[in-house]
Amino acid sequence: MFIEEIEQRLSVRTYQNKSLNHDDELKINDILDQNKNCIGPFGSLIHPFFVVENTAKSQEKIGTYGFIKNAPAFFGATTKNSKNELVDFGYIFEKIILELTQHHFGTVWLGGTFHRSQFSHFISNDLFIPAISPVGYEDSKSMTEKIVRIAAKSDRRKKINEFVFMNRFSDAYRENNHHLSQIFKYVQLAPSASNKQPWRFLIEDNQIHLYLERTPKYAEKLSFDIQYLDMGIAIYHLECGMIDLKIDYEIKVLNNPYIYHPLEYIISFTLHEGFIS
Ligand SMILES: Cc1cc2nc3c(=O)[nH]c(=O)nc-3n(C[C@H](O)[C@H](O)[C@H](O)COP(=O)(O)O)c2cc1C
Repeated sequence: MFIEEIEQRLSVRTYQNKSLNHDDELKINDILDQNKNCIGPFGSLIHPFFVVENTAKSQEKIGTYGFIKNAPAFFGATTKNSKNELVDFGYIFEKIILELTQHHFGTVWLGGTFHRSQFSHFISNDLFIPAISPVGYEDSKSMTEKIVRIAAKSDRRKKINEFVFMNRFSDAYRENNHHLSQIFKYVQLAPSASNKQPWRFLIEDNQIHLYLERTPKYAEKLSFDIQYLDMGIAIYHLECGMIDLKIDYEIKVLNNPYIYHPLEYIISFTLHEGFIS
């Protein structure tokens, strides 16, 4: 599980101006290849691809020029444009991001700011590309950037009691269960589109239910619901925490979930008896 990586990862938008070395290129290919077989919580796969692009011109074409600096390569993946597939995409793509972080590569989720048409040759049938990421070596200059970001980021993250609730959303979670608080800390550190952090959790008996609180009018111009990706990312982070703390759980979609308008129910985790009390 990628606990250290969850704690360390930050978006990297500035890269050293050098190509990936041969071994690193193979390593990245290997990670992408292995994740072709990874199944998300809703049972779907994603189809990763890898593009080595180290000229400014090619980055201009991808539409990230000036905004993502000196990226020597990009990777992405395709899937279908439907709810379950997008959640699974978030889950598997975040697993890849964390695996790359483990190998000290810089990455950043890009769901909006790139030209999808530049990758059209990877698309077939009813598939599309929800997100890509540059991959490369973080530039030393971005250290200052990083420090500033770390300082600012802690303020921008929601507090746990702003996204975790008890008893049908009537009470904020009081952070009175050490292990649970730890798990939600890993969700708190998750990346999300424009850092909107739209995940909401409801604790009820021995279950944790995940809901999406969609940001009104957010990303309306995109042809897909980007916040479903955030749901998959949150599920992956929550699972990493549970596995790390050796908590047995089962993940499933309830037939009759509690409806709390305008939140959208996503999935539930059932924890072993007595864990939540
Ligand atoms: C689904 C998704 C899409 C994103 N799209 C973009 C993007 O298009 N451009 C960008 O600069 N950052 C993008 N980000 C990065 C977020 O802005 C970033 O994760 C968030 O601000 C939190 O910062 P951190 O990743 O450093 O923790 C995206 C993140 C996610 C999860």
